[in-house]
Amino acid sequence: MNTAIERFDESVRRRVGAYGRTVVRAGELVRHPVYTRVLHWSVAVFFILALLSGFAIYSPWLYHWLTPLFGGGANTRLLHPWFSLGFVAVFAFQFLNWLGPMIWNADDRRWTRRVREYVTNSDAVEPDYVDFFNAGQKVYFWAIVISAIVFVISGIPMWFPKTFGRPAVDIGYVLHDIAAIVMLIGFIVHLYEGTAAQPGTFQAMTRGTVEQRWAWTHHPAWYRRAAGRDAHTDSERARARQPQGASGDRRPHE
Ligand code: HEM
Repeated sequence: MNTAIERFDESVRRRVGAYGRTVVRAGELVRHPVYTRVLHWSVAVFFILALLSGFAIYSPWLYHWLTPLFGGGANTRLLHPWFSLGFVAVFAFQFLNWLGPMIWNADDRRWTRRVREYVTNSDAVEPDYVDFFNAGQKVYFWAIVISAIVFVISGIPMWFPKTFGRPAVDIGYVLHDIAAIVMLIGFIVHLYEGTAAQPGTFQAMTRGTVEQRWAWTHHPAWYRRAAGRDAHTDSERARARQPQGASGDRRPHE
């Protein structure tokens, strides 16, 4: 179905994409095109501004440290809702962009049952069925979607207290704080997973590419589609070529 929203999304994707390029070196696959990267980093900038200004308003101790960044207390209060609306607006585009690969399916339920193995890195490669995003990444995405909706619904009465009245503002504070805690925990885990936990992941969002070895290690089903080869076979072949005692597939850059 080609809806007006899909046509709009497609035209923005084409226009933004035309301003940049993705250089693919030998042995690499394209993971995130220019449009996705521009959206991701715009979301990140607005999110961090909203987070810092929100913390400044929330905590008297942080108020002292963070408000000078935004030109004082009054300015911080003024800017926070606008940073937040910026975050929600750009994330709405990312929502459309990623909705397809973020749909939850039966394989994701299987993945969540073996989350312990994932966290402890006990398997050399992910199971064959792990596609473009794993279930953990999907949970983060949907947590952002729900939190963004809660932020808007709870934030508007807090922004215009005289219009909405005390009870709505009080409920707003509680919901806003719950959404902020969920987002903060999610962000810390995401930061770790996107950088230190899995070498080779960060370049997916900077240069837009990943090494094939990274793809077959973390997303075998996507590797099968993108490279047209079997992840398991290529992983075994690479392992056979490695000198004895060399580390496993989860360290693609060694
Ligand atoms: C500022 C530090 C950040 C870093 C270093 C970072 C890094 C990354 C990387 C490398 C990916 C690609 C993962 C892959 O292709 O498998 C990614 C994806 C993603 N990022 Fe970020 N990101 C940051 C901030 C944010 C923020 C602030 C948000 C939203 C609040 C966000 C939301 C997402 C989502 C939803 C995905 C796709 C699902 C996932 O990989 O978890 N990121 N990020």
